[in-house]
Amino acid sequence: MAETVLGVIGGSGIYDLPGLEKAVWTKVEGPWGEPSDEIRIGEINGLKICFLPRHGRGHIYSPSDINYRANIDAMKRCGVSDLISVSACGSLKEEYEPGTFVLVEQFIDRTFARPKSFFGKGCVAHVSMAYPVSPRLVDHVEAAARAENLTYRRGGTYLAMEGPQFSSLAESHLYRAWGCDVIGMTNMPEAKLAREAEICYSTVAMVTDYDSWHPDHGEVDIQSIIKVLHENAENAQRLVARLARDIPRKHETCPVGSDTALDYAILTAPEA
Ligand code: ADE
Repeated sequence: MAETVLGVIGGSGIYDLPGLEKAVWTKVEGPWGEPSDEIRIGEINGLKICFLPRHGRGHIYSPSDINYRANIDAMKRCGVSDLISVSACGSLKEEYEPGTFVLVEQFIDRTFARPKSFFGKGCVAHVSMAYPVSPRLVDHVEAAARAENLTYRRGGTYLAMEGPQFSSLAESHLYRAWGCDVIGMTNMPEAKLAREAEICYSTVAMVTDYDSWHPDHGEVDIQSIIKVLHENAENAQRLVARLARDIPRKHETCPVGSDTALDYAILTAPEA
C-alpha cells in the first residue's frame, strides 16, 4: 500500500499552516495553468503535508477565478493521497451555529462558470459522485475534531454556489427547502476534480454566518465572516495538526472507491 500524503487546501482566512516543519513554498507546474499559489510542502510528525491557500496568499483569486484543475493537479503531482479542504461556509440550519465545523457528506453543485473536469474531447470519462467524500478519511477528521474538543457535526449537504455575491433571501430559503445544511462558493468543482484525480477528499466547512435567511441575524457581510474566521483559524490549525499526527501512515483503500475512481470510468477506446 502507498504512503499517506496529506493535502490541505485552506480557504478564506487560511493562508499558511503554522506548525509545519521543514516547510518550503514549492512551485509546481502542470498542463492546466497556474495553481492559486506555490504549495507549502513540509511535514508533521514525519508525515508529508502539502498545503495550498485556495485563494492565493493575499487572497487574490475570487471563487470563480480559482484554477481548480491546476490546484488538484498540483496536489496529485505532489503525491497527495488524502486531501482535506478547510473552507468557510454559511449555515442554512439553526443548529449549525457559527464556529461549528461541519464534516460534509454530500454536495449540490450550482456553480456554472468553471471548468469541471480533466476529461473531455479525446478522452471521455464519467466518475461516480454518489458518495463524494471518503468516509475513512472523514473518520480520521472526526477523531481529530473530537480529540481537540472542537464543536463539530458529521454529515450535511453543502450547496456550492457560483458567487461572488451572496445569496438572495429567496435563494437562501430555496436551498433550505432543498434540505441543504451549509453553503459555500468553492468546494465544487474541487470535490469532483479530486475524484477524477483519484484523491480521497473531505470537506471541513467552518460555519461563519447564517447566510441571509435567519430572521435574527440579518444579512451576511464579509466583515463578520472574517471576524468568525479569525476566531476559528487556530481551531482549524489544531485540527490539521492532530489529523496529521494520527492518520495512518499507510494510505487506506477508500470504501467508496475514491482512489480507484477511473478503473471503470473511461469510455474512450485506448487506440482512439
Ligand atoms: N462563505 C461563508 N459564508 C458564506 C455564505 N453565506 N454564502 C456563500 N459562501 C459563504
